Amino acid sequence: MEPSHLDTIRQSYDVVAADYARSVKDPAELDPLSRAVLGAFAELVMSADLGPTADVGCGPGKVTAYLSRLGVSAFGVDLSPRMAGLARTAYPDLRFDVGSMTALAAGDGELGGVLAFYSTHHLPPGELPEVYGEFHRALAPGGHLLLVTRVGEEEHQRRTYGYGGDPAPFDSYRLPADRIAELLDRAGFAVTGRTLQEPEAGAKRAVAGFLAHKPEGPRA
Ligand SMILES: C[S@@+](CC[C@H](N)C(=O)[O-])C[C@H]1O[C@@H](n2cnc3c(N)ncnc32)[C@H](O)[C@@H]1O
Repeated sequence: MEPSHLDTIRQSYDVVAADYARSVKDPAELDPLSRAVLGAFAELVMSADLGPTADVGCGPGKVTAYLSRLGVSAFGVDLSPRMAGLARTAYPDLRFDVGSMTALAAGDGELGGVLAFYSTHHLPPGELPEVYGEFHRALAPGGHLLLVTRVGEEEHQRRTYGYGGDPAPFDSYRLPADRIAELLDRAGFAVTGRTLQEPEAGAKRAVAGFLAHKPEGPRA
């Protein structure tokens, strides 16, 4: 049975979907480091050419569309039917599925890439081993993962916000970057690169990007 917090995340994103879609930047307008990391990931999955890339927690699909413009065969998956619906309307040529990153519809080894861009922080940290394991299962050997998330001292926040419109409750979790890298390693990934964006003046959180791949053979 689905854990109840997934239903809370789904309902909250359904409430804020339209306002979120209006307020979130297109990746083309992001800072140069964020675009560079997305560009590096795109280059890696295109040169490996092992299958499609799933943008898990794709929201309104702006990042999925950005990857697609860079040449990646990308599709989106989101827990919130409203988010997936907005993505389909905005990008009718791309595929957007309703589903959870905790149980991807993709078969074993079917994906060439997995992108999780600001989408894993609502899951309790105890679930991350299973979720990273799910990314690993669905990726082909040699496939690439890019995980971008806020990092810092371990923290759990419950806040109500609405991106300028109707508010909804959100639980958010933060972990140290080293802990995330360790969990990715335990899930079977080789973490090949990390970026760290320090908080901007006034902002509280640092953001890390983890580039990792599923090794092709058994570990030494
Ligand atoms: C902060 S938004 C980021 C959206 C998009 N990646 C972007 O950067 O614009 C987080 C998204 O993750 C989705 N999400 C959260 N938990 C999820 C899960 N377990 N499976 C799939 N999507 C999930 C939410 O519905 C929401 O659309």
